Formats: sequence, structure tokens, C-alpha cells
Amino acid sequence: MLYREKIPADNQHPKQNQSFNCWIVVFFLTFAVGKSFTTSSPLTPPGWERSKGRGLSGAIKGACPFFFLNSRKISFITIHKSSKFFTFVPHRVSLTLYNKKMKFFIDTANLAQIQEAQDLGVLDGVTTNPSLMAKEGISGNEAVIEHYKAICNIVDGDVSAEVISTDFENMVQEGLALAKLNDKIVVKVPMIKDGVKAIKYFSSQGIKTNCTLVFSAGQALLAAKAGATYVSPFIGRLDDISTNGLDLIEDIRLIYDNYAYETQILAASVRHTMHILECAKIGADVMTGPLSAILSLLKHPLTDSGLAQFLADHAKAAEKSAVPIP
Ligand code: G3P
Repeated sequence: MLYREKIPADNQHPKQNQSFNCWIVVFFLTFAVGKSFTTSSPLTPPGWERSKGRGLSGAIKGACPFFFLNSRKISFITIHKSSKFFTFVPHRVSLTLYNKKMKFFIDTANLAQIQEAQDLGVLDGVTTNPSLMAKEGISGNEAVIEHYKAICNIVDGDVSAEVISTDFENMVQEGLALAKLNDKIVVKVPMIKDGVKAIKYFSSQGIKTNCTLVFSAGQALLAAKAGATYVSPFIGRLDDISTNGLDLIEDIRLIYDNYAYETQILAASVRHTMHILECAKIGADVMTGPLSAILSLLKHPLTDSGLAQFLADHAKAAEKSAVPIP
């Protein structure tokens, strides 16, 4: 079981606070000893070297603004000078390093459903797997290739296409052929030893990958180290064996944030709206699920009854104001 630190309500990770406090201490220490710092001191903080030993006020100017970086934010301290006093204003959350938005992928090879999700205007990509292709009756290399092309023609975002091979050489060959089909193709590779090697190879070639069949945080860490673009933890299948799949998403989020891994968490095997909402709360980068789960987000009985009431009231008012025909 992984040790998880509790993330405070403001969603700021405890490590960010530690980093913040540590830099405050560094700043005040360096401020207190003032002139004793020189440009060549190994203790010289960022920005200090610009003071060039022109006394305390020069040193302060040189040290301001005082930037520091933690896993997801840049924060800084500004110094305000009045006639007598300097005021230090720490800005804890000033600039988000990346303005990420949750992506919605649809998990199907059904062209009509892909088109419907695309028409809704909220689709960011598609994930497929050999079972989903078989469900649509797609078999044989040529038919599979044509089907991927058809999917790419419908969607604007990434399309995961899974390799069938399980050894490194053949996975690479298959993946290269798939990647050539379209820039949208993401080569989907299973979490096995040769798969990790293949992901490393593809990432060195700038080919996008999706590491699939991930059921543990250790597997997700390996995928990130190999440079996977996406990692696919299967939350529904974990739920099926009485293990909370959402706990895995939380663990991976914590680990990736600790080291600023760029691998995107693609919550897969999503089955219903609560999976989607919980993944959004945890901060999964992407969710992939059936069209039914996406459309269920629309539903609320108060929306339906409210709309019925609006339309009825509008009709009544229109009836009253209608000029009677003589
Ligand atoms: O993306 C993974 C997905 O296809 C598996 O979903 O519902 O078969 O567990 P499911």
C-alpha cells in the first residue's frame, strides 16, 4: 500500500508548502547577513549576484523577485519599499505552469458513436483495443488499417491503436507502421517487459504511446520513466475485483506530481458518470469511456422538469397574448 499524504482542501500539495517555507527562510537568512554575501559565494541565492556588493539595498534589489519552482506552480516574493520599511509580499500561487483541461476520449471502435461524440463538440480523442475492434467485426490487417484511417478522419484528437505483438522487434515494426498512418495515431503498448522497451524506443523517436493494461502504481511509474505519452490504468476492471480503481488514479497523480512526469494519466475502463467525476476531482488528465457514460453527464431530472415548465409557461403566455380571430 502506498503512503499517501492528505492533499489540503485548497489542493496545494504539502510539498509545495514545504518548498515555500524553505525559500522564505533562505531569503530572510540572506537578507539578515546582507553584505557578507559576495557574487562568488556558493550560498548566493538566485538573483543575488546582480547586487554586485552595492550594499544592502542593492542586494535586496538584486534578490527581487525571488523565484522558486515546485512541482506545479511558480511562486515568488515581491518587495515593496516605503520611506522607512520594506514589506515582503509572498505570492503563493501566482502562475500555473500548465493550464491543463480534462480530456474526454471515447473508448470504442464504433464509427457512428465516435461521430456522435465528435458532433457533441466535447471529444478529444479515441481509444481502441483488439476486443473493441473485434466487437465491430474488424479483422485482418488491411481492414484494421482502414478502420484506423476512418476513425482519424472523424476525430480531431489522438487515436490509440494497439499493437498485437508481444516481443520488442515486432512491436516496434507494428507501431512504426501504425504511427505512419496519421499524426493522430498513438501507439498503444501493453505493460510487459518488451512493451516498456518499445515505449522507450518510440518516445526516443517522437512517437506518441499509450501504455495499456496498467493495474498498479509501480507499473505506472515504469511507463512514465520509459517516456509514455499516456498511461492507462483500468479502473473499472479493478472495481470488478473489489479493489478501488480510483485509489490507483490518486496514487499515480501523487507520484507523477512529485517528479513532474509529463506522462498523462488516461483513466481507462471508465464505466459510469461517478468514475468520470471522481477522476476529474483527482486530476486525471484524460478519461476514456463509452458514449453512454459521457451522455449520462447530461442527465438531471430537475433539468428535464425545469425545461418542461419553461416551455409550458411560454406556451400559456403565447396563448393569452394571441389576438382572437373575429
Ligand atoms: O480502455 C480500456 C477499456 O477498453 C477496458 O474497458 O470496460 O472492457 O474494462 P472495459
